[in-house]
Amino acid sequence: MSVYFQVKLFQLREQMRVICRYYRNVRFALVDLGFCFFAFFFNPYRICRKFTGTHSYGETPITTFAELAKAADLTKEDVFVDLGSGRGKLCFWASSWIGCDCRGVEQVPGLVRLSQWLAWAFRVPVRFDQEKLETADLSHATVVYLYTMEWDETLLLEMQPGARVITVGSPVDLEGFAVVKRIEARYPWGVADVFIQQRIAQFMPIEEDSGELFGRMKGSIHVLEDILAPIDEVWDASR
Ligand SMILES: C[S@@+](CC[C@H](N)C(=O)[O-])C[C@H]1O[C@@H](n2cnc3c(N)ncnc32)[C@H](O)[C@@H]1O
Repeated sequence: MSVYFQVKLFQLREQMRVICRYYRNVRFALVDLGFCFFAFFFNPYRICRKFTGTHSYGETPITTFAELAKAADLTKEDVFVDLGSGRGKLCFWASSWIGCDCRGVEQVPGLVRLSQWLAWAFRVPVRFDQEKLETADLSHATVVYLYTMEWDETLLLEMQPGARVITVGSPVDLEGFAVVKRIEARYPWGVADVFIQQRIAQFMPIEEDSGELFGRMKGSIHVLEDILAPIDEVWDASR
């Protein structure tokens, strides 16, 4: 069977699973039907190709993302950010089924407008910003999902300790991130390694900070000496 038909079959099976598992949530069902309807007029692959000039669009199957969300322990207390949100399907699912704060960041105006319109029409409390990943504010994000080809990892450095980042294909190659899980996940084009990493506490490089730290310790010792000197005198005099 050709790759085209394999992908179509995968998508058909995926849609059946989504209907069976997630259409109990009426709002999610309406949004998802909205996506199906608009797909006749706005092909996300074509819109993205027109904007970026590359074939870099693809979507994470909802059932795959549900597994990843479970593995990353995504709860309703979390602030979820999909960096490169495409049509925003994952944010709609996470908002409807997990109940967390959700935000999508996407550069293609047509895709952002579609997700903003669906959020408005079906009153789903999700936010979509037309923005470059590089300028996204991640200081409040507790779970970030990244399924994009090219991005600058240093943008993750503003994440707070304890926050998790999910990446597809390869782990984050940055100090201050530890891989906590590696999962094999299904995508329309095959199986991919997905990495769940946690931001760990920021460490001060010892070489840079030791001088200042030592200086502060010495300062504290001098203060202590000043306090203890009169006590010592009284003690000596009393003996
Ligand atoms: C592979 S799609 C993933 C869509 C969605 N996150 C999902 O998993 O279903 C990647 C998306 O990231 C967007 N993207 C890629 N580079 C970007 C950048 N520098 N700034 C903003 N969006 C970007 C693309 O336009 C595309 O819509």
